[in-house]
Amino acid sequence: MNLDDESPMCLADTSSGEARETHALDVAGGEFAAALIAGLSARSKSIPCRFFYDAQGSRLFERITDLPEYYPTRTETGILRGHADDLATLAPPRSVLIEFGSGSSTKTEILLEAMPQLHAYVPIDISASALEEAEERIAKCFPALRVMPIVGDFSKPLQLPADIAGKRRLGFFPGSTIGNLTEREAVGLLSSMRSILGAEGVLVVGADLKKDVRRLLAAYDDAEGVTAAFNLNLLQRANRELGADFDLYAFDHRATYDMRHGRIDMHLVSRVAQVVTVLGHRFRFRAGEHIHTEHSHKYDIDGFGDLVRRAGWHPQACWTDAERLFSVHVLSAR
Ligand code: AVJ
Repeated sequence: MNLDDESPMCLADTSSGEARETHALDVAGGEFAAALIAGLSARSKSIPCRFFYDAQGSRLFERITDLPEYYPTRTETGILRGHADDLATLAPPRSVLIEFGSGSSTKTEILLEAMPQLHAYVPIDISASALEEAEERIAKCFPALRVMPIVGDFSKPLQLPADIAGKRRLGFFPGSTIGNLTEREAVGLLSSMRSILGAEGVLVVGADLKKDVRRLLAAYDDAEGVTAAFNLNLLQRANRELGADFDLYAFDHRATYDMRHGRIDMHLVSRVAQVVTVLGHRFRFRAGEHIHTEHSHKYDIDGFGDLVRRAGWHPQACWTDAERLFSVHVLSAR
């Protein structure tokens, strides 16, 4: 795969352009230093997963979505393609499609193709550059569509443009990005989405399913080592942006499955006792000590239904693939 290829992708493309969905959890650049220092100062070290997605991390994530072991992206895309007719009925004439995170192009395009009746497409993202890219890509494929990007944090109440305030709203939150959140956080986020989408609102949300543990572990520790590079990029990013002195060969990628919480955890494990300096702060590592870098929750269909109900949503439909690897849920606000 050509890592430098960032050209816009339309439905016809077989390559995936998934990296941008994850900007949903992106933040302004200056926060990395503060979060890193706080996370490494704690007794149990961690780095928030939203910092994976700098330019290099986004390219690596795009490669992950193409790996044979990483089933979620292609499975969700297949589910959405298979339900294009159902999706079309979710958007009555003149409704507005609101995407949380600025668009995994392939998946967004499946919805846009199915919904020629849309009044507008509103991608919401915290990253202005990710939004610009998404807008440009969508404009190329759907020149007649009204695109109204909003720069903002959708985990908090947010003002929609007056033009769409009275229109029916359909939300889209694909990729099982919700799996990065703890249960409490997920309920909070789903509640915010419910207030943004309004009383007539509908939400289409992707959720990865529980399955054979070996299959899960392989998806987060692929043979080619792309996920390892993606994880280690956090340390490389600290070296690049903050002048930290992480020795990338002194840390290992590790993925584990936590049965009790039903989630994959990603870690970076210090191979030796060492000291790392970040912006004048010295951090001591024991041999074998972990930095926790990501939760990726796996659901069962009923459990996910319970979760969304706690946020005030009503499950309307749930679509899965033949192997029951991944699920796409349709929720209504009432
Ligand atoms: C983008 C959060 C859905 O949890 O599967 C992929 C990120 N991490 N491989 C996931 C990820 C390691 C991904 N999400």
